[in-house]
Amino acid sequence: MIFVSRKEHFNAAHKLYNPKWSEEKNREVFGPCANHNWHGHNFELIVTVKGNPDPDTGFVVDLKKLSLLIKSEIIDKVDHRNLNMDVDFMEGKMASCENLVMEFWKILEPRVKKLGSLCELHSLKLYETPRNYVEYFG
Ligand code: NI
Repeated sequence: MIFVSRKEHFNAAHKLYNPKWSEEKNREVFGPCANHNWHGHNFELIVTVKGNPDPDTGFVVDLKKLSLLIKSEIIDKVDHRNLNMDVDFMEGKMASCENLVMEFWKILEPRVKKLGSLCELHSLKLYETPRNYVEYFG
């Protein structure tokens, strides 16, 4: 079993704010991330696919095709957007990295399978800052 990864980048704005809570509780839990007028991050998304190399190509997955898939299905929908307001699959959800990767997984998992009969999605790693990231295995 070989693991192959592609890293993509996007910039997006969000805020972490629970409308069911008071201003004070939001401040207490989310700190400056609850700031009403948004803030941005330079996100890095690492998509890892696993499988066995195709005997004809030697590839687990064609990385060019994987990159195009991530760009068309994810990056084009979130890059330079407001994650709370502009992204249909985040509607009604807290715009946290945890919720983002779970939504990304739902979109990518069936599409990665179609890239090749020998590969499947293994994990998604989303960096919000160089020091903070989440990882999801479906
Ligand atoms: Ni933030």
